[in-house]
Amino acid sequence: MKAIILSKKEKGNQFTYTELPLPSLNEGEVLVQTKAIGINPIDLKTKNGKGIYPMLQNENPLILGWELSGVVTQSRSEKFAEGEEVFGLINFPGHGQTYAEYVASPATDLVKKPSNCSHFEAAATSLAALTAYQSLVHLGGLKSGQKILIHAASGGVGHFAVQIAKHLGAYVAGTSSEKNKEFVLGLGADKHLDYKTDELEKEHKDYDIVLDTIGGNTIDRSIPLIKKGGTLISIPSGKNEAVEEKADRNGIKGLKFTVQSDENNMNVIASYLQQGILKPHISKIVEFDAMEDAHVQIASGHTVGKVIVRL
Ligand SMILES: NC(=O)c1ccc[n+]([C@@H]2O[C@H](COP(=O)([O-])OP(=O)(O)OC[C@H]3O[C@@H](n4cnc5c(N)ncnc54)[C@H](OP(=O)(O)O)[C@@H]3O)[C@@H](O)[C@H]2O)c1
Repeated sequence: MKAIILSKKEKGNQFTYTELPLPSLNEGEVLVQTKAIGINPIDLKTKNGKGIYPMLQNENPLILGWELSGVVTQSRSEKFAEGEEVFGLINFPGHGQTYAEYVASPATDLVKKPSNCSHFEAAATSLAALTAYQSLVHLGGLKSGQKILIHAASGGVGHFAVQIAKHLGAYVAGTSSEKNKEFVLGLGADKHLDYKTDELEKEHKDYDIVLDTIGGNTIDRSIPLIKKGGTLISIPSGKNEAVEEKADRNGIKGLKFTVQSDENNMNVIASYLQQGILKPHISKIVEFDAMEDAHVQIASGHTVGKVIVRL
């Protein structure tokens, strides 16, 4: 099978396209023929020696990627039979290995692809959608009637977070630059705030929850907007070290968080897709042979929705 392996080179970690034997299956695993892969900022961080790289550096071969949609071609699990269409977040945080034509996955990390969505849409609605769901529901305990501010509401995580928060009955404000204002409001957000202006500083100071997907200065700009006892959830690893301490000093709760592969949560995401509650926005589809182009797009920091790689 075709796969992209990550190799240490003089100029840093590089992709190499190669042929590998099909992965063998352990009990409880299925072999999936990949149809679409979702690309995320964690892929870039890990390629560049950060993110999950310290955990994976001794893997040989090291294959990046964690989210996919595809077709089961072999099964050592009672959950799926050959021919079933599945999608999910594989072995996160760990060795997902989705940058390949075939991927061995624990059956528990996958769910059935809803019939009303494509492989592209399903792959898009894995890591970022689970992150939004787990941070809002499990960490934040977001309830109907509460006020939430979602940073980078036009991005991968943010555009799902807006849709989930609205579905849960919250009042939702979202940040992006002016060019993505209509996109954010179109997701259902009640209010848009342009992070490039002083609109954040002028905003009401009564949010129950802020979801920070940016880190650094965005943490400092968010704290004054949260009511006493409220919650700041910050997800960009490497840019949110001080969040707990800064929040504590201001009488709010600061939480860091890492998404986890989770069967029950993926079932909720699949049912949201099936019911049309979640609609992924795919702004770019790239061929497998052009993986580097997908990484360049994510590296811009200005992707709208998701970037997908097609096989
Ligand atoms: N902890 C975890 O488990 C976890 C899980 C998933 C993601 N993450 C992290 O969360 C971060 C976001 O991921 P993502 O996939 O959502 O990223 P993304 O899709 O690349 O985000 C791009 C979006 O960010 C907006 N943006 C850029 N700078 C901004 C700013 N200063 N304020 C507000 N919006 C801004 C851009 O809008 P404009 O073009 O309008 O500027 C763009 O639409 C990454 O650091 C990622 O690694 C962590």
